[in-house]
Amino acid sequence: MNYDHAFHAGNFADVLKHACLCLCLVHLAKKDKPFLVLDTHGGQGRFDLAGPQAQRTQEAAAGIGRLLAHPGPCPESLAPYLKAVRALGGTGTGLRAYPGSPLLARTLMRAQDRLVVAELHPVHARALAALLGRHPRTRIEPRDGYAVLKALLPPPERRGLVLIDPPFEQRDEFQAMARALKGALRRWASGTYLVWYPLKEEAAVAAFLADLAPTLPCPALVATLRVRPVTAGERLAGTGLMILNPPHGLATALPSLLPWLAETLGEGGAGSWSLESLAPAAAAPRGDAPA
Ligand SMILES: C[S@@+](CC[C@H](N)C(=O)[O-])C[C@H]1O[C@@H](n2cnc3c(N)ncnc32)[C@H](O)[C@@H]1O
Repeated sequence: MNYDHAFHAGNFADVLKHACLCLCLVHLAKKDKPFLVLDTHGGQGRFDLAGPQAQRTQEAAAGIGRLLAHPGPCPESLAPYLKAVRALGGTGTGLRAYPGSPLLARTLMRAQDRLVVAELHPVHARALAALLGRHPRTRIEPRDGYAVLKALLPPPERRGLVLIDPPFEQRDEFQAMARALKGALRRWASGTYLVWYPLKEEAAVAAFLADLAPTLPCPALVATLRVRPVTAGERLAGTGLMILNPPHGLATALPSLLPWLAETLGEGGAGSWSLESLAPAAAAPRGDAPA
């Protein structure tokens, strides 16, 4: 386990993932009823942008930094994300820290909502516990995120969101993620799921989507964002996000948010995006249903 998100915090992939996470949470918080957020791969929770990792890659500068420095207005759909980032990261002389998904989530959740965060790396799990462990209705699980997913669903709240954001250090991560997701959907088909993956090997992504799509019991969107053309084996050039049961606000925001992000974050005009809708398997065309 060598992955350290401190090298990548606030990059273009985080921008898309976290902006979508915030829109989902805004939607869930519209009703008084409590909800659960389960973050299966939580990371450290907060990242020092002056630290050696962030300074070495400058990925935050090319990601969230560009949004905050943008001269024109940003899309309205980015408002909850940008507001939380500014509040948590400080804006005086620029952003000093970048909030990870558990901190963003807890910030947009209410007192009645429950947050569970799994993080396998002991040092990262301790950082998370120090940051959020004392918060009521928040639990840090220092163990495998897929095991926590299996143990916790369906949640008693019957409302909520699962974020699956693994580091993709293992060659079989796509298969492990698909297995975990299929099991989770069998137990809880009505939750919102945000599933992150890198666009590095297009064939692996295509196999993952082809495996999952025919089994999906719910509507899904697949969004991609590339900041330059994807070349196998290179540093991350593109990101994918699968959203199961996307809330209305997110589904309506993405068609304008994605092109704006591609233009703003793309390198030398080379940004691109896509948005695909997957119909639930049960909604086969008329005539295909068994008699
Ligand atoms: C991409 S980072 C998470 C970033 C975080 N979700 C965010 O958006 O701020 C992936 C994290 O998963 C952790 N990890 C690796 N294997 C894991 C596992 N099997 N279960 C839970 N966490 C794991 C890594 O230590 C790393 O901190």
